[in-house]
Amino acid sequence: MRIGSLTISSNLFLSPLAGYTNLPFRLVVREIGGVGLCTTDLVNARSLLEKNKNAFKLIETRPADSPLAVQLFGSVPEEMRDAAARIESLGFASVDINMGCPVRKVCNVGGGSAMMIPQGGTQTAALVRGMVNAVKIPVTAKMRLGWDDDNLTAPDLARALEDAGIAAIFVHGRTRQQGFGGTVNLAGIRAVVQAVKNIPVIGNGDVITPQAAKKMLDDTGCAGVSIGRGAFYNPWIFQHTLDYLQSFRSSGRQSALTSNDSETNNEPTHVGCYEKRDGGLPPEPVFAERVRVMCRHLDLMVEVFGEEPGCRMFRKVAPWYAKRFGPCHEFNKRVVQVSTQAGFHEVLENYTRWRQQFLDSNGELQPRFRPPPLVASFMRETEPASTQREHIPVPKGPVEVW
Ligand SMILES: Cc1cc2nc3c(=O)[nH]c(=O)nc-3n(C[C@H](O)[C@H](O)[C@H](O)COP(=O)(O)O)c2cc1C
Repeated sequence: MRIGSLTISSNLFLSPLAGYTNLPFRLVVREIGGVGLCTTDLVNARSLLEKNKNAFKLIETRPADSPLAVQLFGSVPEEMRDAAARIESLGFASVDINMGCPVRKVCNVGGGSAMMIPQGGTQTAALVRGMVNAVKIPVTAKMRLGWDDDNLTAPDLARALEDAGIAAIFVHGRTRQQGFGGTVNLAGIRAVVQAVKNIPVIGNGDVITPQAAKKMLDDTGCAGVSIGRGAFYNPWIFQHTLDYLQSFRSSGRQSALTSNDSETNNEPTHVGCYEKRDGGLPPEPVFAERVRVMCRHLDLMVEVFGEEPGCRMFRKVAPWYAKRFGPCHEFNKRVVQVSTQAGFHEVLENYTRWRQQFLDSNGELQPRFRPPPLVASFMRETEPASTQREHIPVPKGPVEVW
């Protein structure tokens, strides 16, 4: 797939989740495979120009963390232009513009979500044009469908930004007013796809299974899918989705999600974390593999942030892995206290022993203790408890309603 001058190996993207999709997590998903392009957490353009230490920590990377986009946040055209040039000079693959930040002091001066209000379109296009003219790397934009249901500005804005030279649009299928509630609006994403002439539109929102990725691609015509929280549930999702999509291409068979064979009306005969519909889905990673990847993630957190800060940050990460362990309260209540790697491994060893009571003679979780399969919000009317939005931590503060 191409984004402007950049060729990427797949049409699957890691969405920025401030505080989560840092260098260690990006390395974890890249080692598993399947992801085409990752993006940093949002970075304040001015802080980058002032060489602020924290801003530089946010864009810390390594050759294995490539290709990587830096997401910029700001409203002053000159600062955004110069920050884009700085990013290019540092060797990053592309620069992304955050058009979702809801903080009042940013919106009041025309940044973040305010870039999407109807009156803001011309200014936004001018800011984008300034950035595009300053760099050779692709400039992309990440937006929502609009401010609210009465102002679905994304299609018009996407068209204006294409004229200004933007290389791709990422669109989360909700309005700013929706926050994370309700169902992702696939028709809204489709309207953005139809509004642009040549650039790729990448759909985003609630893709937590390969089937959901396929449905978003099929129903919207988007060129790729960007996955945020789904990657935290399941860092294997990119590789599994690629394999799943490939199984349709190589066999020429019909989508498993059309006609009578849809997720909404089949009996769930799930194997592992996905509802099993056909042979195209890989099996769920076994417990030992989940533990291996989780420990690798912690090693990288310690390498990048130091032992104590890395372990403390990992307290909010480990429970995401534990969601697929089966009964996990013994793990979750102890892991939130760890501050050393040795302490973490002690918690894990004790938990692994405790978990044995739920296993059968083959060492597999007994069926009644297996977590329910994951199903995306737009794939069924009632979500199982494990995938409801309130179970997904959305931090307070600036990133409250992206
Ligand atoms: C904790 C958290 C942090 C986020 N940080 C950012 C960010 O830095 N930049 C951004 O454009 N979007 C951010 N988002 C929005 C996500 O990139 C994404 O659009 C949204 O979560 C929907 O996709 P998903 O359902 O695949 O997670 C954040 C979302 C969450 C939950």
